[in-house]
Amino acid sequence: MFKLPPIAVDIGSSAIKIVELSGGHQKKLRSVGIELVPEGVINEGFISDIPTAQQALKRLVKRLRLSTMRRRACLSLGGNSVIVKKVNFPNKDEAELADMIEAEAEQHFQHDIDDLHFDWHILDPNPNQQDRSVVLIGAKRDIIDQHISVAKSVGLKIAVIECDVFATFNMFEYNFGMIQGLIALTNIGASSAQVSLIGNGQHLYTRDIAIAGNNYTKALSTALNIAPENAEAVKIAASEGGASITPDVQNVIAQVNKQLVSEIQVTTDFFFQSGEAPLDFTALSAIFLTGGASRTIGLDSAIASAMNIPVNIINPFHKIDIPRKFPMESILSQGHLYGIGVGLSLRDVEDNV
Ligand SMILES: Nc1ncnc2c1ncn2[C@@H]1O[C@H](COP(=O)(O)OP(=O)(O)OP(=O)(O)O)[C@@H](O)[C@H]1O
Ligand SMILES: [Mg+2]
Repeated sequence: MFKLPPIAVDIGSSAIKIVELSGGHQKKLRSVGIELVPEGVINEGFISDIPTAQQALKRLVKRLRLSTMRRRACLSLGGNSVIVKKVNFPNKDEAELADMIEAEAEQHFQHDIDDLHFDWHILDPNPNQQDRSVVLIGAKRDIIDQHISVAKSVGLKIAVIECDVFATFNMFEYNFGMIQGLIALTNIGASSAQVSLIGNGQHLYTRDIAIAGNNYTKALSTALNIAPENAEAVKIAASEGGASITPDVQNVIAQVNKQLVSEIQVTTDFFFQSGEAPLDFTALSAIFLTGGASRTIGLDSAIASAMNIPVNIINPFHKIDIPRKFPMESILSQGHLYGIGVGLSLRDVEDNV
């Protein structure tokens, strides 16, 4: 009998992705794969057509020849199905703090607490601050149930339900360790993007942005008067450098890049102006990108020139051993899709196999 971490199942708006790692501190890739989901089935975490999502996961599990017997899944929620908030509480001992958090959570979420699954994480004390910062996480119960029903349909049990923001953060820290200073970690998916600000390895602030991969496809489809499937192909070909890009395509993508960059700037400006930023942070030192749409042509350079900071597209498999059976070329060209999957599969929960 040996132990394996749970299987990461990232149910995103455009696709379901699986990542399976093995090993202790040094992780090794066991399986990885993606199955596209038709548009409209999943949006910002909400699964409106559960049978279609279940079929997609079944196909993926079969294609990867995964045995789901006695295995558990780590799932992740993103978009507006999760609310992540940092709130300051008076500096009390942890038991008193816990009572206070429980009592005040509803008012911070502005949501009926009965509709939310609620969790929190108390941050390390900040010497510049008298209050104690707490990250509150609320996930919509109905959406959690939808995700569980998709994972269970292939025989998986549920180990952990994480949120995209923290899965991305885990993936980042495993690969690059704790970075000193203030950085932004941005996951850009199909229906939404999340920008998280991380100071000396601590999560400080997250904002959800409703501009992501789908916006490029829609804009291209409208401007060029082509079907969304063709617009999607044009977009991917442009970022992969395979086809010559017409000025029209370039302009449309550049316009959406501009909107996304402006939302990232609004997020960081808000962080600094609202007093959310600890006093020792006055500027961002770098931005790291992951998620399918992070590879969009011109996005990294648009962010770098508007914000005047280095921008890096993360390879989520940077520190993971990749056996030869996985073609390195596809790990490098598709890796950006698996940021959340890698973060989820790093969770410290084990299955007996
Ligand atoms: N090489 C690429 N260039 C540009 N866009 C890409 C590329 N590869 C994937 N995308 C886009 O990335 C998006 C998918 O990314 P990802 O898998 O991270 O999203 P998701 O998890 O399905 O969605 P969400 O997180 O919003 O629910 C799609 O819009 C897709 O078109
Ligand atoms: Mg996603």
